[in-house]
Amino acid sequence: MLTDNHGRKINYLRLAVTDRCNLRCFYCMPEEGLNWLSRKELMTYEEMLQTCSLLVKMGIEKIRVTGGEPFVRKDIMQLLTSLSDLPGLNELTITTNGVLTAPFVPELKKIGVRSVNLSLDTLDPNRFFTITRRDEFSRVMETFHELLKHDIEVKINAVVMDGKNTQDIIPLAELTKELPVKVRFIEEMPFNGEGHVYQGLQWDYIRILAEIKQKYPTIEKLTDPANSTSYNYQIPGHKGSVGIIAAYSRTFCGTCNRVRITPQGTLKTCLYDNGVLNMKDLMRNGVKDTDLQAALLDAFNHRFKNGWEAEHNRNINDPAHESMATIGG
Ligand code: GTP
Ligand code: 5AD
Ligand code: SF4
Repeated sequence: MLTDNHGRKINYLRLAVTDRCNLRCFYCMPEEGLNWLSRKELMTYEEMLQTCSLLVKMGIEKIRVTGGEPFVRKDIMQLLTSLSDLPGLNELTITTNGVLTAPFVPELKKIGVRSVNLSLDTLDPNRFFTITRRDEFSRVMETFHELLKHDIEVKINAVVMDGKNTQDIIPLAELTKELPVKVRFIEEMPFNGEGHVYQGLQWDYIRILAEIKQKYPTIEKLTDPANSTSYNYQIPGHKGSVGIIAAYSRTFCGTCNRVRITPQGTLKTCLYDNGVLNMKDLMRNGVKDTDLQAALLDAFNHRFKNGWEAEHNRNINDPAHESMATIGG
């Protein structure tokens, strides 16, 4: 079993396969997009597989593929299929914006993907356009229904933004009435690619819960799965459940079991750290797996205690100019 210097089990890898995206969610990146990484700067699929295969041998049991948007990277099914074949990997999952995903759903089912997290901040097509700056609401909904049709668990991710979509909290929660989905409301973090725009957190998990409770006073707390990022609740009689992710308040760091690899091949042992190991460079310098493993173990043994400590120790003082798309979420 892999553990860190704080006794936390590490068994979950978040692998970001691209920084590119076909939406422009304003809480993630500026309208003009980012300075996209060149092909050479990105990890190749071979490098990703080498890394994942090693990490799975070391104790990683779950891999979540993220981006940017994973489905904008060419031949993504090829990578997903190879990952799904890794012996020892129990769970392969994806976080997607759903714009290009619908046609791939049957194949995802076939390779054993049991759960997909879908970013969807509103059920109103106009607000969808305002938030994402793209007119793609109907394709995202198509993916949503296609996933349900194929009996793949769906967790909806809705970032709660003051003055932008707080009127969507109740309609999104209402989705759980007839559909067996998990709708999770997320505190907005400063990773929007243009730090100066971040106003500070207006809707923390306490305020989000209060808003939901006002409409559904009988809401019940569920037992949260181990290592859950979300506090989970059920509205009596509803088929699905709602959750709140205190991503900015960072209340779940004590049980954090996850590490990340960014699209440029940097290992992060916390979402808020500045990157602790350049895996891609090591591999391109021909490092042996045994040395790569030693470097990884060393990084896992020097993890920050929590997201506050990680943020405090960044080289760059202002984390906010980074985009979620270059981190991988
Ligand atoms: P599962 O537990 O596998 O469903 O993953 P998840 O819910 O953490 O993954 P997802 O990609 O759907 O992310 C949902 C939200 O949680 C996003 O806003 C992420 O940035 C945030 N998040 C994920 N991991 C962490 C973390 O380690 N720390 C913090 N602060 N936020 C996180
Ligand atoms: N704050 C909180 N969540 C964010 N995401 C992207 N940017 C931010 C941000 N600034 C979410 C997306 C996606 C997940 C990986 O991260 O909605 O679902
Ligand atoms: Fe794209 Fe996701 Fe960022 Fe929106 S949050 S711009 S969907 S990477």
